[in-house]
Formats: sequence, structure tokens, C-alpha cells
Amino acid sequence: MKIGIIGAGRIARVHARSVAAHPLATLTVISDPIEEAGRTLADSYGARWTASADDLINDTEVEAIIICSPTPFHAEQILAAARAGKPVLCEKPVAMDIATVEQLERDLEGLHARVMMGFNRRFDPSFAKLHALATDGTVGKVEQVTIISRDPAAPPAEYIATSGGIFKDMTIHDFDVARFFLGDITSVVAIGQNLDPALKDTGDFDGAIITLTNAEGATATITNSRHCAAGYDQRLEVFGDRATLNADNIRPTTVTVSGSEYTDAREPYLDFFLTRYEAAYTAELNEFISAITEGRNPSPSIDDGKKALEIAEAADRSARTGIIVRL
Ligand SMILES: NC(=O)c1ccc[n+]([C@@H]2O[C@H](COP(=O)([O-])OP(=O)(O)OC[C@H]3O[C@@H](n4cnc5c(N)ncnc54)[C@H](O)[C@@H]3O)[C@@H](O)[C@H]2O)c1
Repeated sequence: MKIGIIGAGRIARVHARSVAAHPLATLTVISDPIEEAGRTLADSYGARWTASADDLINDTEVEAIIICSPTPFHAEQILAAARAGKPVLCEKPVAMDIATVEQLERDLEGLHARVMMGFNRRFDPSFAKLHALATDGTVGKVEQVTIISRDPAAPPAEYIATSGGIFKDMTIHDFDVARFFLGDITSVVAIGQNLDPALKDTGDFDGAIITLTNAEGATATITNSRHCAAGYDQRLEVFGDRATLNADNIRPTTVTVSGSEYTDAREPYLDFFLTRYEAAYTAELNEFISAITEGRNPSPSIDDGKKALEIAEAADRSARTGIIVRL
């Protein structure tokens, strides 16, 4: 499958690496309006660079597209790819707001679009194993899901200003993980924190606690922070009436060091999403290529992207007003 990647930033580099390593895929074109970024990435994989996303989408050689541009461009690029009859793996979130997603859904009617959303955490081997154990009866009825997701350090204030806020930019992954285990969410309550003086003027929260509930009364509690002295902290617990499952942080090796000052000292956690979720991005691409090749609709879908975004908008409203938001 000849693949074009739109955007040549942080996440594009991750996908380019996965495409290059995939036995059935070739990276053919990279588009980015910034020539240096686009050319550098394209050259390192023997691909062609173009400044124009439309040029990439309409390149007759390109059979499938991965959208890694900034979020405000996702909807128009998904639509252009669908009009060109090409399947898409699009990075999260699907758009900055629900109104844009609803317009996209109307525009896509009748186009038979094949779109997969880049909720890579569903494909993390540990989280996927927990999901398998939650669906095969091992856990029994899932009652509580606990997600801890903290970044090692906050991004620059300029990034936060255009990110759409913590819930759409960061927690959106956790909202999707919560939906992966609980299905549709019916209520959202969130508390936002402003504890980092460097981010005080951004108007955004730098930490949050969110509790989601589904129609059966099962809950997911998410703890987020934009910073964490211990590194990239990614943990998941699924509590059911038959068993409790835990996925812990991952380190490069299992080595422990014990001495007179510390015992059982271990290496730091894998440092950020590029390494921590490397296997997840690979499995995500594999599922995208398999679904397209086998004629299945890829999952997670635009609808999953929309539902995670609805929760993000509800969480922001709850954190700013103190109310429980019903969906
Ligand atoms: N799944 C994940 O783990 C994950 C991680 C990081 C980012 N993301 C998402 O990926 C997207 C990109 O984030 P990033 O961190 O790579 O950003 P980035 O700023 O590092 O890179 C974005 C690139 O897109 C280019 N660009 C700007 N306008 C463009 C356009 N119209 N067409 C094509 N390219 C354009 C920019 O020049 C830049 O090189 C965002 O939607 C973000 O939410 C997902």
C-alpha cells in the first residue's frame, strides 16, 4: 500500500517510521507547507515532498493517507481524501469542535469514506490485553476504570494557546480509553487545576480530575497533569466484580539496583509517547492496513472521535461551571 503522510511534525515522524517498517507499506509522499520540515522527513525515507496537501491527496500513486497536520485542518483533509476515494488514518482529535464534526458527517454522506481515528492507546499491548480480559469474562462486570495519565513536562505556552485546551488535546486519549471499556458515557464531572505558574496566563488547566459514568452506573476516573517529576506516567486499572486488572508504567529493562541508600531502584519510565506507545502506533497502522485490505471499516471511527470530543466539551463545561454535565 502506497501511503502519503500529511504534515511532517512530531507525530508524522512516528507514523513515517511505522510505515517504513511495515512489510506491506511504502511511504510515497509527505506534504508540509514548511519545506525544511517536509523535505527532511521525505528525504530520510526516499519519499517525495510537496507543500500542498491537495497535491498529495490527488497523487494517483497514493493509495492511503495518514493525516498528521494540526487539528484545524483534519476535517477538510478527511473530506478531500474521501472525495478522492482514499482511506484515511487521521490523528486525534477529529476537529476542534462538535459543529465541525457534524458538518463533516453531513459532507461525507454517500461518499463511503473509510476513516480510522488515531486513538493509538487502544492498540497498546498492555491496554489491549486488559480489554481482552474485560470482554472474555475474566473481570466480570466492569464497575470502575481508573486512568492515570501525566506528561513528563508541560509544552510551551504558545502550544497550549492553540491546542484546544487540556481536555481536547490531552485527555481526549483517556476519554477514548474510558469509552473502550465502558461504552457510551452519560455524565461528566470535572475539576480543573491551575497549579503551574508558567501556565497561569494560558487560560487552560494544567491538571484535571474527571469522572465519567455510563448508563449502567459504571465509572471511569481520569487523573491528568501536564507535568510529572517521575516522567511519563501512564497507568490503567480495571476493577470488576470478579477481578482487578492493572497495567503499570513501562521501563526500558526489568533491572533493579539495590544498595545502601536505595533498594529496588529502577530505570525511569519510557520517556514520552514516541517511545511509550511505539508498539501501539505500529499495531494501529497494522490494523488500518488490514482493515482496508480486507474491506472492513477501520475502527476507531469518526463516531468514536466525535463521542470523545463531546466528552471533552462536557468536561470543559463542568470544570468551568462546577456542574455535572449529562450527555
Ligand atoms: N496520537 C498521538 O499520540 C498524538 C501525539 C501528538 C500529536 N497528535 C496529533 O497530531 C496532530 C499534529 O500534532 P504534532 O504534535 O505532530 O504537531 P507539529 O506541530 O509537531 O507538526 C504539525 C506539522 O504540520 C504542518 N502543517 C501545518 N499546516 C499544514 C497543512 N495545512 N497541511 C499539512 N501540514 C501542515 C506543520 O508545518 C508541522 O510541520 C495534532 O492533531 C495532534 O493532536 C497525536
